[in-house]
Amino acid sequence: MPTFVHISDLHFGREQAEVIAAWFKQAAVLRPDLVIISGDLTQRATAEEYIAAQQFLAQLQWPYFTIPGNHDMSATDLTERFFNPWKKWEKYISPATEPVLKQAGYVVVGVNTARAAGFYFDWSRGQISHKQIKEVQAKLAVTPEQDLRLVVAHHPFWLPQLSAYRDLVKHRDQALEAFHFAGVDLILSGHVHRSYTQILQGVLIVHAGTTFSSRLVEGQANSFNVIKGDRQQLSVEFMTWQGSEFQLAERRQFRHNNGVWQQTTGLNSV
Ligand SMILES: [Fe+2]
Ligand SMILES: [Fe+2]
Repeated sequence: MPTFVHISDLHFGREQAEVIAAWFKQAAVLRPDLVIISGDLTQRATAEEYIAAQQFLAQLQWPYFTIPGNHDMSATDLTERFFNPWKKWEKYISPATEPVLKQAGYVVVGVNTARAAGFYFDWSRGQISHKQIKEVQAKLAVTPEQDLRLVVAHHPFWLPQLSAYRDLVKHRDQALEAFHFAGVDLILSGHVHRSYTQILQGVLIVHAGTTFSSRLVEGQANSFNVIKGDRQQLSVEFMTWQGSEFQLAERRQFRHNNGVWQQTTGLNSV
């Protein structure tokens, strides 16, 4: 039964060394099969920040899977932003912005929802195109029935009340419907710097807060998630920063029934 450690919004440039050191200690105990990083590895997409993120990844003693977020493209170098937005990502992090990982028991598909611009005021908003939706379906088409199917995308497919002022990923409804029919079990995201879970269209949506950065929203400490389980049942543990270490704040359990996920414990909180 695999253990996934889900971290997000690392924002190197605004990272806290003490929090990173404590996370490494905790991760060494958890010994994850995979560390999943759901975007915003940097704060301003500078070379220095990318090098810091690259050094962090090099220190991981476990396999990792990552996709970019909106902060990982430059907001000041507009030539780079509009003509080669993933130049530094490809140089320092990975040649892929939408990786796929197939392992015994699970498959992970990355979707890059960050955009250089859009026909809306807030350019930090993300979107998933119809082409990307079809690509996710194709990448999952030959997955064995018993294998857990995870999609990792930076922007939110659901928002809790406290983050309702943020935008959902554009084309959320079409994507969710397609993902449901493709048998997607989990969507792992970040961006709003809050940890939460929600089930929509039978798909379990899991958000991690900002794991290392000082870019905290009110009422949310630094956090990460531990996801353990298989396609029948799994648990999501919220780990939150308590001043000198991460501690378990809450465990939620889920069961897969007739192609939909249902929450079986921890029903009283968002
Ligand atoms: Fe972020
Ligand atoms: Fe973001």
